[in-house]
Amino acid sequence: MCGIIGYSGPLEAKKILLDGLSQLEYRGYDSAGIALFDTLSNIRLIKRTGKVAALRQACAKEQDSSHCGIGHTRWATHGGVTDANAHPHRAGRVTLIHNGIIENYHNLTNEFGLEGKLVSQTDSEVAACLLDQFYRGNPLEAIKELTLHIEGSYAFCVLFDDRPGEIYGIRKVSPLVAAYTRSGALIASDLTALIPYTRKYFVVPEGHVAKLTGYKISLYDMEGTPVSPEIMEVNWNMDSAMKNGFPHFMLKEIHEQPQALKNTILPRMSKGLPDFTDDNIPDELFCQCTKIHMIACGTAMHAGMVARALMEPVLHIPVTVSIASEFRYEDPLVDQDTLAVIISQSGETIDTLAALRLAKSRGSRTLAIVNVKGSTIARESDFVLYTHAGPEIAVASTKAYSVQLAALYMITCRMALVRKNFTKDQAAAFLSGLLDAIPAMETMIARKEEEKHLVTHLINQSDAFFIGRGLDYAFSLEGALKLKEISYIHAEAYAAGELKHGTIALIAPKVPVIAIATQEHVFLKTISNVREVKARGAFVILLTKEHAQVDSSLADIHIRIPDMDDRFTVFPIAVILQLMAYYASIGKNLDVDQPRNLAKSVTVE
Ligand code: M6R
Repeated sequence: MCGIIGYSGPLEAKKILLDGLSQLEYRGYDSAGIALFDTLSNIRLIKRTGKVAALRQACAKEQDSSHCGIGHTRWATHGGVTDANAHPHRAGRVTLIHNGIIENYHNLTNEFGLEGKLVSQTDSEVAACLLDQFYRGNPLEAIKELTLHIEGSYAFCVLFDDRPGEIYGIRKVSPLVAAYTRSGALIASDLTALIPYTRKYFVVPEGHVAKLTGYKISLYDMEGTPVSPEIMEVNWNMDSAMKNGFPHFMLKEIHEQPQALKNTILPRMSKGLPDFTDDNIPDELFCQCTKIHMIACGTAMHAGMVARALMEPVLHIPVTVSIASEFRYEDPLVDQDTLAVIISQSGETIDTLAALRLAKSRGSRTLAIVNVKGSTIARESDFVLYTHAGPEIAVASTKAYSVQLAALYMITCRMALVRKNFTKDQAAAFLSGLLDAIPAMETMIARKEEEKHLVTHLINQSDAFFIGRGLDYAFSLEGALKLKEISYIHAEAYAAGELKHGTIALIAPKVPVIAIATQEHVFLKTISNVREVKARGAFVILLTKEHAQVDSSLADIHIRIPDMDDRFTVFPIAVILQLMAYYASIGKNLDVDQPRNLAKSVTVE
């Protein structure tokens, strides 16, 4: 959460910072600000509540004479959404931007007598004040002293008044990537801000300071010893981070799913079977465990729920799914016999990262399914299976969910093969079923116009229910989250058979119930549950396979996906649920890509 960027080089800094902030805006959009060294080496600060567009307007009158500066787009944690709480923060000779949380800021305020001196309510300003107190002309020493006092997570970019043209970057947990390019030196929360200038970059390692000047970037450890950065190369380009003619990133990303699936699956197929040799994931990882524990948040956790319903009947070992923020505090039953599967698009979600560390400390072997290359979760896991979705910019996750599922399906298949739950033929048939899901997704994307009218009823309602059994129930969880997140309609997912144990009391005339019934072995049971809600006046949107037999009176709207193997119906169903949420959001005239109160990468607890 929060996007930060710094630039030093020959070009005009203001434009680079504002453009970078627009790219990073999905990380937070409560307020935005920049600080620039002017030609007299004075620092100018411009900040505004609201989105980057408001800041851009405020900056229009500013002279374009600066070649070094820092910028920030905020997701508020400590202190409300005000100009004063917007970053950058200034204290004495220090100007600073921050992503993360300084947990002991209150104690530090008392210990260092800052009460009365602070002009904002933020934890970040406390860090700026401390850094100013510790600064005696040597930035590295002052930064080192700061890190000895602060607790929590942070990525900082700092300007010192007497160091024009220089930017200092330091991080713990919160991400920071940097690059020296033909256009100058850049540092940012993530690659989307760097990609217009370079494909080569490095992750600022924890416990190191990156110093940017117009001519180079130097990396130092805390003793001030120069360190060579580990240069990485990104495999997507600027186009991937643009809307490319789509009205919203979410719609573009829904459309990208078939290709993202191919990119994730095909390089890992050998002779029709899943093969993780190039990912350096050994088969013994899959053979040695006696149980699997999946850990993730939000949509990624829902991908885990689908995988659990898929895996247990195939592998015949216990598969548990935990919400990362709960896992950390519940003394989980994981040990050296557990394979901990950590799922995260960003690879930076702090609860998921903490859960990974806990699982490792208990002796579990860890396998991360991550989209962002070089992210903290990817680097700290024993093994990593990268999904190849490209950058996901819309806050609502779509293509990341599909590729996480694809990765989990491939893991299931490989595990079943090496553990002898599948013969080679069965594994090949499974993988071919997975590939068949791609055209099924394409079909549903091509029929997207049909979905527009189905939300007419939905958008006038305050509640909606998603029901299903088995795998269909796991899909429902994600459908409900998507609808809540971007259309602000209260939605609940229920195992269809569980409704009558309480929740059915909420089913009144016209209440929308989205019923998913794609699983043959529980189909009739689910249909009975649909009848129960229909009898109480619900407005039923029914999702089945093409040739499913149902009375025409049962559903107000019936959407059919192509006939296919039950195990893979999640892929076309996901498209329907995503489009439903998308059109509901549009129908209510809401901000689809940047829904209220949210941000893309959740780096605070
Ligand atoms: O980056 P991660 O996959 O770790 O993020 C996890 C959740 O924050 C994320 O999936 C969130 O639930 C999405 N915004 C939902 O669309």
